[in-house]
Amino acid sequence: MKLSWLLPFPVLLTAMVGNGSNAEKHIETEAVTWARDISPILREKCETCHRPGQVGPFALQTYEQARGWAEMIASVVEEGRMPPWNAAERFHGVFENERSLSAKQKTTIQNWVKNGMPRGDKQDELQPKEWADTWSIGKPDAVFSMEKWLSNDEELPEEGYRVARDGVIDYEYFYAETHFPEDRWVCGMEVRSGAPDVVHHVLVVVQDPKKGKFNPRGRGLLQFFAVAVPGDTPSLYPDGYAKLLPAGASLVFQVHYTPNGKERFDRSSVALIFADEEPVFEVVSDAAINRRFTIPAGAKNHEVRSSHVFKEDTGILTLFPHMHTRGKDFQFIAHYPDGTSEELLFADYDFNWQESYTFADPKPFPAGTRLDCIGHFDNSADNPNNPDPDKPVYWGDQTFEEMFVGYYDYVVPLD
Ligand code: HEC
Repeated sequence: MKLSWLLPFPVLLTAMVGNGSNAEKHIETEAVTWARDISPILREKCETCHRPGQVGPFALQTYEQARGWAEMIASVVEEGRMPPWNAAERFHGVFENERSLSAKQKTTIQNWVKNGMPRGDKQDELQPKEWADTWSIGKPDAVFSMEKWLSNDEELPEEGYRVARDGVIDYEYFYAETHFPEDRWVCGMEVRSGAPDVVHHVLVVVQDPKKGKFNPRGRGLLQFFAVAVPGDTPSLYPDGYAKLLPAGASLVFQVHYTPNGKERFDRSSVALIFADEEPVFEVVSDAAINRRFTIPAGAKNHEVRSSHVFKEDTGILTLFPHMHTRGKDFQFIAHYPDGTSEELLFADYDFNWQESYTFADPKPFPAGTRLDCIGHFDNSADNPNNPDPDKPVYWGDQTFEEMFVGYYDYVVPLD
């Protein structure tokens, strides 16, 4: 197949890319106000998380709220702590889901706080935004909650899975049947746990009846369908891109519970949005992983690598690094068949903000392209998140063990 099919990408995607905030136009000439300058920034960059029912600890939707938190906003913005975004500065502008503020937006916020948070003309103020639903992807077309244990097909009790008060729990597997008689194309997915304080992650995988029972020990987990990890926002693919949910499929939930001393019950669910039209590209998740590593006790910057060679022409839509608490940084480099290389991502790693990085236009990968993942782990006492700097660390499911997974979404043209 020729790479020419990648040409329509930019055309397809321009409609999806926002025009940025109109806050930046005025600040040179006039005093910064909430109404005209600040509220659009917070609407675009903060409100997704800072509104009721979302992960942010308080709402930032009104003048009163923003004024109340103003000093703290100025300081977290200055430090670059908010909005959370771990890609290196040189990738500014590259990823479509970038959360960070531009230098200009930061200055605007600082100036507003310095000048005593003027409100400005009420007429300029943005109307409150109607969020479509409590789901951040908008109103879902279908929602499935875990129903049965994968191991024995038994129904979960009415109240859901009982999470023990303490101890270490192996990953648990459940499923829900979709009962769709035909294939469906899914362009939005959001996973919600039933007990956020003890559910560390949920990975949702498709069990295709044509392929038999899903094997939790197999490679299929890497080709996940939807995921919820600390800090990441749900997936909403651009027009023309979707994942396949085959007829009659079940959705398998892999759940990692981390007991916190209180008994809890969980019935996690996944919300789906179906594509209005046949997609042009199928999106498939996969990963380059390395399970064979030993991170020596106390090592400050231990390197681990993995790689994958793409045998067909494709395009890469998303990169999604995964490590545990000793993860320090993660880099993706593409080595193209013509001998050139390109750094696709360098990100600091933060276990509490496990971000995925979506290109505005997929990166064309001609057949033969090798994707290298290079990461570093800090197993020393200097790492405040390190559960035990005195032990060597190996691959394992639990948070006190480690992983090295370079997930990516690649695209396959549909004709
Ligand atoms: C992806 C979700 C997300 C986005 C986007 C986001 N925040 Fe937050 N914010 C959080 C969470 C979660 C916390 C609490 C945990 C923490 O401090 O990391 C938080 C905490 C804060 C705090 C308190 C800091 C502290 O030390 O307690 C401030 C202030 C704040 N955010 C401001 C902002 C501003 C301003 C923006 C936009 C410019 C923003 N946030 C965007 C999720 C988000």
